[in-house]
Amino acid sequence: MQVSHFLSTKSPATIWIPRSLDLPHHGRTPPISVVRVPTSAVAAPPKIQKIHSMPPEKAEVFKSLENWAAKNVLPLLKPVEDCWQPQTFLPDPSLPIADFTEQVKALRERTAELPDEYFVVLVGDMITEDALPTYQTMINTLDGVKDETGASPSVWASWTRAWTAEENRHGDLLRTFLYLSGRVDMLQIEKTVQYLIGSGMDPGTENNPYLGFVYTSFQERATFVSHGNTARLAKDGGDPVLARICGTIAADEKRHEHAYSRIVEKLLEVDPTGAMMAIADMMKKRITMPAHMMFDGKDPRLFEHFSAVAQRMGVYTADDYADILEALIARWKLEKMEGLTGEGRQAQQFVCGLAPRIRKLQERADERAKKMKAHGVKFSWIFNKEVALV
Ligand SMILES: [Fe+2]
Ligand SMILES: [Fe+2]
Repeated sequence: MQVSHFLSTKSPATIWIPRSLDLPHHGRTPPISVVRVPTSAVAAPPKIQKIHSMPPEKAEVFKSLENWAAKNVLPLLKPVEDCWQPQTFLPDPSLPIADFTEQVKALRERTAELPDEYFVVLVGDMITEDALPTYQTMINTLDGVKDETGASPSVWASWTRAWTAEENRHGDLLRTFLYLSGRVDMLQIEKTVQYLIGSGMDPGTENNPYLGFVYTSFQERATFVSHGNTARLAKDGGDPVLARICGTIAADEKRHEHAYSRIVEKLLEVDPTGAMMAIADMMKKRITMPAHMMFDGKDPRLFEHFSAVAQRMGVYTADDYADILEALIARWKLEKMEGLTGEGRQAQQFVCGLAPRIRKLQERADERAKKMKAHGVKFSWIFNKEVALV
């Protein structure tokens, strides 16, 4: 049984995707068990978490795909010797102290023109990467693909460990860069990371690898978009090294997106209705951002505020959410898919009609936002300086 407790009081995950996008009930196999979990230490009612929603016989699908995954998924990893490491982009501590200091000074000079709001977004991205233990845990909750021992020779487990090892460089690199920049309050950032890992995440994947791989396909693309945009802003703001850092991380995310999307593509081939319904299920729930439970010990609406700054700066927006959905629909050729059952066709219709609905609702939200008075919020990550939200 899953046990989850949340250490802080936080608001719900997303601020902009409306809750009214309901998929008509399509009679999915009911979950084997259901757990009630508190969503906050204080008032909110407990949320129901479904677990083990994949019928056990479907675990065979993943067993039968091991050879395929060895040939088509594992090659998307890079050999360690060919990988960049954080040190590739950072001042070299093995240099004499004066030269090392010179490199740190140059780093600080390059970041001098970047605005505080940029650092809010970069810190939020770094914290998201740094909660990697949670993501590895989440993938290892998935029935049929989890790492049973910690060093399981199964293809799925090998992928997950090597993926984690690649991802681990992202948080390390951003963290060290931010530390050297002197622009951010590391103590507050470190606290936020500790809170976040302690809180976990609730992506609604129900131990179900169909749902899990839809989630990771979406998320890898979302991080690709977000790091790509922080790269662009760093370049425009006069820091080509930081631009290269964010761009290089974005390239990793793209490769990972490719791997996870390829898995879903294969599931659509071997089990079209099952895979289509999993996509609809995740989209109906909305894709929750992995760091949606972030908290710094001060701001109970920290994630909402961070998301608003990311939206305002164009780093990750509601339009991006709709774009990602459309890109996945195109990649998986969902509109043209045939051979679906009635339930499958219903799910297909829902998924393929969703992006325009999201855009329309967002337009209305934007109109409302325009009428709001400009206001800002203080972020502990940047020494309590205020950043505009609207
Ligand atoms: Fe990453
Ligand atoms: Fe990633």
